[in-house]
Amino acid sequence: MNLVLLGAPGSGKGTQAKMLASHYKIREISLGDILREEAKKKTPLGEVVSDYMKRGVLVPDEIIKDVIQSKLNSHGFVLDGFPRNLAQAKMLEDILKEKNLTLNKVIYFKVDEEKAVQRLSGRRVCKECGAVYHILNMPPKKEGICDRCGASLIIREDDKESTVRRRWQVFKEETASLIGYYLKKSNLLEIDANKSKEEVFLQITEALGYGEDKDSSGD
Ligand code: AP5
Repeated sequence: MNLVLLGAPGSGKGTQAKMLASHYKIREISLGDILREEAKKKTPLGEVVSDYMKRGVLVPDEIIKDVIQSKLNSHGFVLDGFPRNLAQAKMLEDILKEKNLTLNKVIYFKVDEEKAVQRLSGRRVCKECGAVYHILNMPPKKEGICDRCGASLIIREDDKESTVRRRWQVFKEETASLIGYYLKKSNLLEIDANKSKEEVFLQITEALGYGEDKDSSGD
């Protein structure tokens, strides 16, 4: 199973990408996480991308192309945060063709802006392992501490409200056109992302038609 998750900031893509990867035993490829890791390690790539990310704008396509090309190698993936514009959608098609891979579904997370902004204002992430929490919706067992690895939780640099609003603007201007693009290709699945994470997960798994015990090796 090869999936793309499409949606505005705070629509819950990252949360569902992890759940779907674990459920279907496929790889989660999150562009945002990959770029943040590079920025954290201060690699040459990280130095270049961190300024774009802090400002809440897209990293240039040429840079993204190299990253995605190195990550997409075999069947069984859920892509979170790529593609984000028409040029990237075409890029994805070329890469898939070249590597003899196919896309099963593009899942569009439809969410209200105010709800998403509220989610992002309460998001906390582990500074070590990247686990994601929400102070009200998905709190850690111990305040400010990661359940998984015990490190401190922090607020993502691009989660301050002005940057979140900018990211939403970028979504509307550059990414939203992909909804129509994939609709025309008949592989878009729209889900109501305003619901709880369990309800969202159920909508997706019911629509994809694979149950818990399905052998989902991805072949
Ligand atoms: P990225 O990290 O991908 O950010 P994003 O797309 O803005 O998405 P978010 O991670 O903010 O939200 P999400 O939808 O994943 O929500 P989450 O599940 O975390 O990208 C960051 C930056 O990297 C970009 O701005 C850009 O600069 C660069 N970049 C990345 N990809 C790029 C590309 N292809 N091209 C160019 N540049 C690129 O949930 C949010 C919060 O809500 C959490 O606290 C969570 O616990 C909670 N929550 C989740 N689901 C629910 C629910 N159903 N109910 C209640 N709370 C929920």
